[in-house]
Amino acid sequence: MRLISVSDYSALSTAAADLIAAQILLKPACVLGLATGSSPVGAYRELVKLHQAGRLSFSRVTTFNLDEYRGLPDDHPQSYHTFMNQNLFRAVDLPSGAAHLLDGMDPDAARQCAGYEAAIHAAGGIDLQLLGMGHNGHIGFNEPADFFPLDTHCVDLTPSTRQANQRFFPSLDDVPRQAYTMGIRTILSARRILILVHGADKAEILKTAFYGPVTPQVPASILQLHSDVTLVADEAALSAL
Ligand code: GLP
Repeated sequence: MRLISVSDYSALSTAAADLIAAQILLKPACVLGLATGSSPVGAYRELVKLHQAGRLSFSRVTTFNLDEYRGLPDDHPQSYHTFMNQNLFRAVDLPSGAAHLLDGMDPDAARQCAGYEAAIHAAGGIDLQLLGMGHNGHIGFNEPADFFPLDTHCVDLTPSTRQANQRFFPSLDDVPRQAYTMGIRTILSARRILILVHGADKAEILKTAFYGPVTPQVPASILQLHSDVTLVADEAALSAL
Protein backbone atom coordinates (compact mmCIF):
# COMPACT_ATOMS: atom_id res chain seq x y z
CA MET A 1 0.00 0.00 0.00
CA ARG A 2 1.14 3.52 -0.80
CA LEU A 3 0.28 6.07 1.89
CA ILE A 4 -0.07 9.71 0.92
CA SER A 5 -0.25 11.73 4.12
CA VAL A 6 -1.73 15.20 3.74
CA SER A 7 -2.50 18.03 6.14
CA ASP A 8 -6.24 18.36 5.75
CA TYR A 9 -9.35 17.64 3.67
CA SER A 10 -8.52 20.27 1.10
CA ALA A 11 -5.09 18.74 0.42
CA LEU A 12 -6.66 15.27 0.36
CA SER A 13 -9.12 16.41 -2.28
CA THR A 14 -6.43 17.92 -4.49
CA ALA A 15 -4.21 14.84 -4.19
CA ALA A 16 -7.10 12.52 -5.02
CA ALA A 17 -8.22 14.60 -7.99
CA ASP A 18 -4.65 14.67 -9.33
CA LEU A 19 -4.45 10.86 -9.15
CA ILE A 20 -7.81 10.42 -10.88
CA ALA A 21 -6.91 13.03 -13.52
CA ALA A 22 -3.59 11.25 -14.13
CA GLN A 23 -5.50 8.01 -14.72
CA ILE A 24 -7.74 9.71 -17.30
CA LEU A 25 -4.82 11.46 -19.02
CA LEU A 26 -2.85 8.20 -19.25
CA LYS A 27 -5.85 6.24 -20.54
CA PRO A 28 -8.63 8.53 -21.80
CA ALA A 29 -10.98 5.59 -22.38
CA CYS A 30 -10.57 4.32 -18.83
CA VAL A 31 -13.16 2.78 -16.53
CA LEU A 32 -13.55 4.50 -13.17
CA GLY A 33 -15.26 3.05 -10.13
CA LEU A 34 -16.81 5.93 -8.18
CA ALA A 35 -17.93 6.45 -4.62
CA THR A 36 -20.36 8.69 -2.77
CA GLY A 37 -20.23 10.07 0.78
CA SER A 38 -18.36 13.09 2.10
CA SER A 39 -14.88 11.67 1.41
CA PRO A 40 -14.81 12.16 -2.40
CA VAL A 41 -16.88 15.37 -2.65
CA GLY A 42 -13.83 17.65 -2.58
CA ALA A 43 -12.03 15.50 -5.15
CA TYR A 44 -15.02 15.74 -7.47
CA ARG A 45 -15.00 19.53 -7.02
CA GLU A 46 -11.32 19.62 -8.04
CA LEU A 47 -11.99 17.40 -11.06
CA VAL A 48 -14.76 19.75 -12.16
CA LYS A 49 -12.32 22.66 -11.87
CA LEU A 50 -9.77 20.83 -14.02
CA HIS A 51 -12.47 20.14 -16.60
CA GLN A 52 -13.68 23.73 -16.60
CA ALA A 53 -10.11 24.94 -17.04
CA GLY A 54 -9.95 22.84 -20.21
CA ARG A 55 -7.35 20.48 -18.75
CA LEU A 56 -9.40 17.28 -18.40
CA SER A 57 -12.03 15.56 -20.50
CA PHE A 58 -14.34 12.73 -19.47
CA SER A 59 -15.58 12.26 -23.03
CA ARG A 60 -14.18 8.71 -23.34
CA VAL A 61 -14.50 7.68 -19.68
CA THR A 62 -16.93 5.03 -18.41
CA THR A 63 -17.98 4.98 -14.75
CA PHE A 64 -19.51 2.45 -12.37
CA ASN A 65 -20.68 3.53 -8.94
CA LEU A 66 -20.08 1.34 -5.95
CA ASP A 67 -23.55 1.25 -4.49
CA GLU A 68 -27.09 2.60 -4.36
CA TYR A 69 -29.86 2.55 -1.78
CA ARG A 70 -32.56 -0.01 -2.48
CA GLY A 71 -36.02 1.47 -2.83
CA LEU A 72 -35.05 5.03 -3.75
CA PRO A 73 -35.93 6.22 -7.25
CA ASP A 74 -33.07 7.74 -9.30
CA ASP A 75 -34.40 11.27 -8.83
CA HIS A 76 -34.81 11.00 -5.03
CA PRO A 77 -32.76 13.81 -3.42
CA GLN A 78 -30.73 11.26 -1.40
CA SER A 79 -30.19 8.68 -4.11
CA TYR A 80 -26.61 8.18 -5.21
CA HIS A 81 -27.77 8.91 -8.77
CA THR A 82 -28.68 12.41 -7.57
CA PHE A 83 -25.44 12.73 -5.59
CA MET A 84 -23.33 11.89 -8.63
CA ASN A 85 -25.28 14.20 -10.93
CA GLN A 86 -24.93 17.09 -8.49
CA ASN A 87 -21.29 16.56 -7.56
CA LEU A 88 -19.75 15.47 -10.84
CA PHE A 89 -21.72 14.27 -13.83
CA ARG A 90 -23.67 17.38 -14.74
CA ALA A 91 -20.54 19.55 -14.57
CA VAL A 92 -18.28 17.45 -16.83
CA ASP A 93 -18.46 16.07 -20.37
CA LEU A 94 -19.10 12.43 -19.41
CA PRO A 95 -21.47 11.02 -22.07
CA SER A 96 -24.84 10.22 -20.48
CA GLY A 97 -24.76 6.52 -21.33
CA ALA A 98 -21.27 6.15 -19.88
CA ALA A 99 -22.32 6.51 -16.24
CA HIS A 100 -23.52 3.27 -14.66
CA LEU A 101 -25.26 3.04 -11.29
CA LEU A 102 -27.20 0.23 -9.73
CA ASP A 103 -30.97 0.61 -10.07
CA GLY A 104 -32.32 0.79 -6.53
CA MET A 105 -35.87 0.35 -7.80
CA ASP A 106 -35.28 -3.01 -9.45
CA PRO A 107 -37.17 -5.50 -7.27
CA ASP A 108 -35.24 -8.39 -8.83
CA ALA A 109 -31.98 -8.32 -6.86
CA ALA A 110 -30.42 -11.28 -8.63
CA ARG A 111 -31.05 -9.79 -12.08
CA GLN A 112 -29.87 -6.32 -11.06
CA CYS A 113 -26.64 -7.54 -9.47
CA ALA A 114 -25.72 -10.06 -12.16
CA GLY A 115 -26.41 -7.45 -14.85
CA TYR A 116 -24.09 -5.00 -13.11
CA GLU A 117 -21.26 -7.51 -12.86
CA ALA A 118 -21.71 -8.34 -16.54
CA ALA A 119 -21.64 -4.66 -17.51
CA ILE A 120 -18.37 -4.09 -15.62
CA HIS A 121 -16.88 -7.14 -17.30
CA ALA A 122 -18.08 -6.01 -20.74
CA ALA A 123 -16.47 -2.60 -20.19
CA GLY A 124 -13.11 -4.31 -19.65
CA GLY A 125 -13.02 -4.13 -15.85
CA ILE A 126 -12.34 -1.17 -13.60
CA ASP A 127 -9.03 0.65 -14.00
CA LEU A 128 -9.26 2.81 -10.89
CA GLN A 129 -11.70 2.31 -8.02
CA LEU A 130 -12.27 5.24 -5.71
CA LEU A 131 -13.36 4.38 -2.16
CA GLY A 132 -14.31 6.01 1.11
CA MET A 133 -14.58 4.01 4.31
CA GLY A 134 -17.40 3.86 6.86
CA HIS A 135 -16.80 4.20 10.59
CA ASN A 136 -17.18 0.43 10.97
CA GLY A 137 -14.72 -0.24 8.14
CA HIS A 138 -17.31 -0.78 5.45
CA ILE A 139 -16.41 -0.18 1.82
CA GLY A 140 -19.25 0.40 -0.59
CA PHE A 141 -21.99 -1.05 1.57
CA ASN A 142 -20.05 -4.19 2.46
CA GLU A 143 -20.77 -4.27 6.16
CA PRO A 144 -18.85 -6.18 8.86
CA ALA A 145 -19.76 -9.86 8.51
CA ASP A 146 -18.51 -13.39 9.09
CA PHE A 147 -17.39 -13.68 5.45
CA PHE A 148 -16.45 -11.40 2.56
CA PRO A 149 -19.41 -11.06 0.18
CA LEU A 150 -17.91 -11.59 -3.27
CA ASP A 151 -20.06 -10.14 -6.02
CA THR A 152 -22.53 -7.29 -6.37
CA HIS A 153 -25.38 -8.05 -3.99
CA CYS A 154 -28.24 -6.70 -1.92
CA VAL A 155 -27.31 -5.94 1.69
CA ASP A 156 -29.17 -5.12 4.91
CA LEU A 157 -27.65 -1.92 6.27
CA THR A 158 -26.43 -2.08 9.86
CA PRO A 159 -28.01 0.20 12.49
CA SER A 160 -24.69 2.13 12.77
CA THR A 161 -24.55 2.81 9.02
CA ARG A 162 -28.20 3.88 8.97
CA GLN A 163 -27.51 6.19 11.92
CA ALA A 164 -24.40 7.63 10.23
CA ASN A 165 -26.41 8.35 7.08
CA GLN A 166 -29.42 9.71 8.94
CA ARG A 167 -27.97 13.21 8.65
CA PHE A 168 -29.07 13.25 5.01
CA PHE A 169 -32.69 12.19 5.71
CA PRO A 170 -35.55 13.79 7.66
CA SER A 171 -35.52 10.95 10.23
CA LEU A 172 -33.97 7.54 10.89
CA ASP A 173 -37.15 5.92 9.62
CA ASP A 174 -36.60 7.50 6.22
CA VAL A 175 -33.14 5.95 5.81
CA PRO A 176 -33.41 2.91 3.51
CA ARG A 177 -32.85 -0.46 5.17
CA GLN A 178 -31.18 -2.09 2.21
CA ALA A 179 -28.76 -1.24 -0.58
CA TYR A 180 -27.22 -2.75 -3.66
CA THR A 181 -23.44 -2.76 -3.54
CA MET A 182 -20.44 -4.08 -5.42
CA GLY A 183 -18.96 -7.02 -3.55
CA ILE A 184 -15.45 -7.42 -2.22
CA ARG A 185 -14.31 -9.38 -5.26
CA THR A 186 -15.81 -6.73 -7.55
CA ILE A 187 -13.81 -4.06 -5.72
CA LEU A 188 -10.58 -6.08 -5.51
CA SER A 189 -10.78 -6.83 -9.24
CA ALA A 190 -10.06 -3.17 -9.98
CA ARG A 191 -6.53 -2.71 -11.28
CA ARG A 192 -5.89 0.20 -8.93
CA ILE A 193 -7.66 1.33 -5.77
CA LEU A 194 -7.66 4.84 -4.30
CA ILE A 195 -9.14 5.15 -0.82
CA LEU A 196 -9.72 8.49 0.91
CA VAL A 197 -9.97 8.80 4.68
CA HIS A 198 -10.20 12.03 6.61
CA GLY A 199 -11.07 13.24 10.07
CA ALA A 200 -10.25 12.23 13.65
CA ASP A 201 -13.42 10.14 13.86
CA LYS A 202 -11.87 7.69 11.35
CA ALA A 203 -8.48 7.45 13.13
CA GLU A 204 -9.18 4.23 15.07
CA ILE A 205 -10.83 2.41 12.15
CA LEU A 206 -8.02 3.47 9.79
CA LYS A 207 -5.45 1.90 12.15
CA THR A 208 -7.57 -1.25 12.54
CA ALA A 209 -8.27 -1.62 8.81
CA PHE A 210 -4.80 -1.01 7.42
CA TYR A 211 -2.52 -2.13 10.25
CA GLY A 212 -4.62 -4.83 11.94
CA PRO A 213 -5.52 -8.37 10.84
CA VAL A 214 -7.41 -8.97 7.60
CA THR A 215 -10.92 -9.93 8.64
CA PRO A 216 -14.44 -9.67 7.22
CA GLN A 217 -15.38 -7.96 10.50
CA VAL A 218 -13.44 -4.99 9.08
CA PRO A 219 -14.22 -5.15 5.34
CA ALA A 220 -11.62 -2.52 4.33
CA SER A 221 -8.87 -4.69 5.85
CA ILE A 222 -9.01 -6.87 2.70
CA LEU A 223 -7.41 -3.97 0.82
CA GLN A 224 -4.11 -4.97 2.48
CA LEU A 225 -4.06 -7.89 0.03
CA HIS A 226 -4.48 -5.80 -3.15
CA SER A 227 -1.26 -5.05 -5.01
CA ASP A 228 -2.03 -1.46 -6.01
CA VAL A 229 -3.76 0.51 -3.25
CA THR A 230 -3.17 4.18 -2.53
CA LEU A 231 -4.47 5.50 0.77
CA VAL A 232 -4.78 9.28 0.93
CA ALA A 233 -5.39 10.33 4.52
CA ASP A 234 -5.17 13.55 6.48
CA GLU A 235 -3.25 14.08 9.72
CA ALA A 236 -6.36 13.70 11.85
CA ALA A 237 -7.22 10.31 10.33
CA LEU A 238 -3.60 9.17 10.79
CA SER A 239 -3.43 10.36 14.40
CA ALA A 240 -3.91 6.91 15.97
CA LEU A 241 -0.92 5.37 14.19
C1 GLP B 1 -21.54 5.40 2.85
C2 GLP B 1 -21.24 4.86 1.44
C3 GLP B 1 -19.80 4.46 1.29
C4 GLP B 1 -18.94 5.57 1.86
C5 GLP B 1 -19.12 5.58 3.35
C6 GLP B 1 -18.31 6.65 4.05
O1 GLP B 1 -22.33 4.56 3.61
N1 GLP B 1 -22.05 3.78 1.01
O2 GLP B 1 -19.51 4.19 -0.07
O3 GLP B 1 -17.61 5.35 1.54
O4 GLP B 1 -20.46 5.69 3.70
O5 GLP B 1 -18.92 7.89 3.93
P1 GLP B 1 -18.19 9.24 4.24
O6 GLP B 1 -17.21 9.46 3.13
O7 GLP B 1 -19.28 10.27 4.25
O8 GLP B 1 -17.54 9.08 5.57
